[in-house]
Amino acid sequence: MKYPIDFELEFQRHNYPGKLIALEGIDGSGKTTQALELVESLKKEGIKTVYTKEPTDGEIGKMIRRILTGEKNFEPVSFQYLFAADRVEHQEEIIGFLKKGKIVVSDRYFWSSIPYGATDRGIDFKKSQDEANILLVCYSILSLYHQFIAPDITAYLEVSADAALKRLSAIRHNVDIYDKLEKLKSIARGYEWLIRKFPRELTVIDGSKSIDKVSEELFEKVVKITS
Ligand SMILES: Nc1ncnc2c1ncn2[C@@H]1O[C@H](COP(=O)(O)OP(=O)(O)O)[C@@H](O)[C@H]1O
Ligand SMILES: [Mg+2]
Repeated sequence: MKYPIDFELEFQRHNYPGKLIALEGIDGSGKTTQALELVESLKKEGIKTVYTKEPTDGEIGKMIRRILTGEKNFEPVSFQYLFAADRVEHQEEIIGFLKKGKIVVSDRYFWSSIPYGATDRGIDFKKSQDEANILLVCYSILSLYHQFIAPDITAYLEVSADAALKRLSAIRHNVDIYDKLEKLKSIARGYEWLIRKFPRELTVIDGSKSIDKVSEELFEKVVKITS
């Protein structure tokens, strides 16, 4: 039995004195590198800035990390709920910083839930895949984030799955390259899908350039909205 349900997903535009900057991208795209650089550069300008990340370092975040490292097995759907719960806790923390007028740089945000969560649930975002099914899975995931705060800027660091995996293989051993590459490619297509669906929410930055070039571009975009 199917019941059609229409719903509107609303992201909150916050009015707090601070700003929320989110960094998104596939593993190895440079998010952590850039988030930390950005925090340093803003601090040098005398701007009060904090670094934060998802999954968080809270209790739920720690559990998520244990599942991610394969220490625990979990159903993809319940895994999504864990992420959502961690993000609810994170929102409270972020709002606290924003109220104090701080710039919050978040290494990942709820946008990650779409490419990662949908891939975990068997969506590969290929053109051949049924768009209705993609929509169903993606919107059901996004509905968990109804009335969450939309970042003032979400920078998507665009890097190909091949390039990102090369970076990761240089720092990590025993990565199952094939499995990882196929998954990363699906996640990258997931982000492309998001950009098509929510073009005003994500700012694409070419993450394949040097660390310094990417930092410069990101800093320029962020500093504009802080002054
Ligand atoms: N623009 C870049 N060019 C080359 N290597 C990079 C670049 N940005 C990051 N790296 C390297 O790639 C690896 C993954 O970067 P990281 O910031 O941890 O990515 P993420 O947090 O997105 O997974 C690190 O070894 C980092 O030094
Ligand atoms: Mg990282």
